[in-house]
Amino acid sequence: MEALLAELAAIVGAEHVLADPDLVAGYTTDWTRRFRGSARCVIRPGDAREVSRALLACARHAAPVVPQGGNTGLVGGGVALDGDAVVMSTRRLRRLGPVDTLAGQVTAGAGVTIAELRAHAARAGLEYGVDLAARESATVGGTIATNAGGIHTIRYGATRAQLLGLEAVLADGSVISRLGGIQADNTGYELTQLLAGSEGTLGVITAARLRLWAAEPPALTVLAGLPGIEAAAAASAEVRSLLPGVRAAEYFEAAGLALVRAHAGLPAPLGSDYPCYLLADISAADGDTERLMALRFLADAAVAMDAQARAGLWAYRERHTEAISAAGIPHKLDVALPVARLAAFRAELDEVIAKAGARAIVFGHIGAGNLHVNVLGPDPGDPAVDDAVLRLAAAHGGTISAEHGIGRAKAAMLYLSRSAAEIAAMRAVKSALDPGGLLNPGVLFEPPVH
Ligand code: FAD
Ligand code: MLT
Ligand code: ZN
Repeated sequence: MEALLAELAAIVGAEHVLADPDLVAGYTTDWTRRFRGSARCVIRPGDAREVSRALLACARHAAPVVPQGGNTGLVGGGVALDGDAVVMSTRRLRRLGPVDTLAGQVTAGAGVTIAELRAHAARAGLEYGVDLAARESATVGGTIATNAGGIHTIRYGATRAQLLGLEAVLADGSVISRLGGIQADNTGYELTQLLAGSEGTLGVITAARLRLWAAEPPALTVLAGLPGIEAAAAASAEVRSLLPGVRAAEYFEAAGLALVRAHAGLPAPLGSDYPCYLLADISAADGDTERLMALRFLADAAVAMDAQARAGLWAYRERHTEAISAAGIPHKLDVALPVARLAAFRAELDEVIAKAGARAIVFGHIGAGNLHVNVLGPDPGDPAVDDAVLRLAAAHGGTISAEHGIGRAKAAMLYLSRSAAEIAAMRAVKSALDPGGLLNPGVLFEPPVH
């Protein structure tokens, strides 16, 4: 152990090797507090070369490596549970290149946060397509590794759709780099996309070439009260089909709203209370405002046009995650369903949750069929309710992970969304790129990986 620490200190600098248990603790507990572990140390390399040399040193000492960005992941993929592991924090990889306005692209280091990237693009009159409530901490590398979705997925797609190339270090220390930004490039396997969503199991991402979009005119935000999820799904469909400028279609329910209001001290958003709510963000595309006002579901709605009022409405949706965590350690289940199945799933979910003697707070990105089911009550270590909810989603033709990934939380249940043939192919890829199982063992696949 001492020898490994000395080698790592020689590679990244002694000040970037953290072994003090108090300092390490911040890197071995996840955002939800459901996943807690320990590590030999945390290292903070400053460039791809240091990442490469550090990976080789860890391999020589048989120390598993857990890549970590902003540690905002919600499936336990970025924290070391095994005291032998080394956490490799990518937060120092903060290179942010000039915006290439000709190509509408930018190169960003893995440790740049989404808020920094979005602000950088905005200064050039452009927009980065991914945004999420964890923007101040979530990193470029972490969002690529999880293929993060977020509030604009219905407009721009998830992180994969923003990715033109990346630089990454593989388990054998080799560096692959495609940061040239050439969009038309048909030269074999698409390694960039393979690493997107690989959750730190195939390589350490050190930088990325990202697509930027034309900045949209200031948006208008609508918050409408609705009688049930079926009405919310129909309203979301209406918004999407009639308004070309829709940027977000988000959903929450009375139980979540009550938690958020109590936690954040916010007033009721509308004159009456409703079982559920749809929050939509609309850009000022031609005629959208007039068409919006004609929509039938807007019987009771708040409409905000200036930035401050819009942020006020968004707080009811974006503060769900912190309000839920303030109420307990949640089981966070992130499913997506065919839109036509949302109502049936939601009704049966109540039975599953009642049987578990728990309570569920449900919200999400309804425009993408994505519901975040947060269960409070069961012990954090008890997977029974996770299993029941994910089985229900699968039975309705849904997926067990819409955007957060599989991580450690759902590795045992991957088979609910992927066939045996698919899992075998995925394991073959893992074995080919990381034959020694150095990177993130226990994430995505249950061990052993061979
Ligand atoms: P981490 O949490 O540090 O790591 C996540 C995973 O990526 C781990 O498996 C880790 O090993 C791997 N990883 C990290 N960096 C690298 C790297 N450089 N190379 C290789 N692997 C790496 N997620 C959504 O999809 N949509 C949302 O709307 C959303 N909203 C959120 C709101 C809040 C308040 C919070 C707390 C979380 C939210 N999340 C959301 C979850 C989380 O923000 C995302 O999963 C995000 O992509 C994680 O980024 P990170 O930098 O924090 O990664
Ligand atoms: C969100 O959409 O707010 C996030 O995915 C976070 C969460 O699920 O809590
Ligand atoms: Zn989400």
